[in-house]
Amino acid sequence: MHDCHREIAVWMAAIGAEVRIDAAGNLRGFYAGAESKAPRLLMGSHLDTVPNAGAYDGVLGVVLAVALLEALEGRRLPFGIEVVGFSEEEGVRFGVPFVGSRALTGRLDRELLERKDSRGISVRSAIEEFGLNPQEIPRAALGNDNFGYVEFHIEQGPVLEARKRPLGVVDAIAGQSRLEFTFVGRANHAGTTPMHLRYDAIAGAAEWTTAVEREANKISGLVATVGKIEAKPGATNVIAGEARLTLDVRHGLDQVRTRAVENLIREAEEIARRRGLSVSQNIMLNQQAVSMDPFLIYEIEQAIRKTGCEPHRMVSGAGHDAMILAEKVPAAMIFLRTPGGISHHPAESVATEDVAKAIECGLHLLDQLASSPTLQRRMCRA
Ligand code: GLV
Ligand code: MN
Ligand code: MN
Repeated sequence: MHDCHREIAVWMAAIGAEVRIDAAGNLRGFYAGAESKAPRLLMGSHLDTVPNAGAYDGVLGVVLAVALLEALEGRRLPFGIEVVGFSEEEGVRFGVPFVGSRALTGRLDRELLERKDSRGISVRSAIEEFGLNPQEIPRAALGNDNFGYVEFHIEQGPVLEARKRPLGVVDAIAGQSRLEFTFVGRANHAGTTPMHLRYDAIAGAAEWTTAVEREANKISGLVATVGKIEAKPGATNVIAGEARLTLDVRHGLDQVRTRAVENLIREAEEIARRRGLSVSQNIMLNQQAVSMDPFLIYEIEQAIRKTGCEPHRMVSGAGHDAMILAEKVPAAMIFLRTPGGISHHPAESVATEDVAKAIECGLHLLDQLASSPTLQRRMCRA
């Protein structure tokens, strides 16, 4: 990440942006507006990624924001633009996503700072090891001079490709729950313990995993994933005494999602009771579905049309920093078509022509915003 920051910081500085790294590890480059007191538009996405990832999820949104500044060729707008390369959006290391964006909305709290990774290193220690001071996190929070946040991102799904549309606009982002379940049984010898005398934590966890899939298949629009399993002690010839699993549940309607989570917790408890195991769960995230800003959606659609393309409105099943930023500033997202709908995978890609369309759309959007009467009013309030 240090290398990544260094590289992008050089690009931003060359365009005339003022670059800093805030105490939550977000890279921030500020391109000033025409006047010193001009309000600012936030743009960006995240710089972290998942294991065995593709090259575009997140970072494309940061690079596109930098490309837009470059395409301005020194032109100053009635507003400043702050590009943010967010840290820790995916939640891979600490199980909790949106660590960087939460710092901007003042939600990187003590509880989150004390969360530990699999090696027992807390968020707080990781920030210190990175060379930053967690005491300064409050200074990463947004001031009240921001009038909007716009994030470019690959769609990560098949919808735009199926509709032959290079660009889409997000009208809402699905809510998501993330939990960690621990089944506890009794470790014992795999050769000497008869089947009926076992308390096998992996077998219980496996039964529950298939129940998760069954439950999700029953409810339209619900997606539920057990993406990670760890067993202890973890040897071929030892019955597992403990199994830890992650659960990720998403739906456009918060009620449907929370009801599904309750059912899955009940199901885990039933399976554990029947097998003589115990089970506990830890809620890592309960993030509500979020609507994007209608004014920005409208302007983005106009900007897409100016590139000669027809926009497509859609709900994002993936989570994004925009859903956290939306708590504090009007937020919107522009999706780029994702070939094959493949993401969180090394085969993830994007077409160069679609990236060119995205830059063109972004420039139209900046020009529209610069002359929008609605925005003048919004900026006066910012
Ligand atoms: C982000 O990639 C997510 O998991 O939605
Ligand atoms: Mn991702
Ligand atoms: Mn992403």
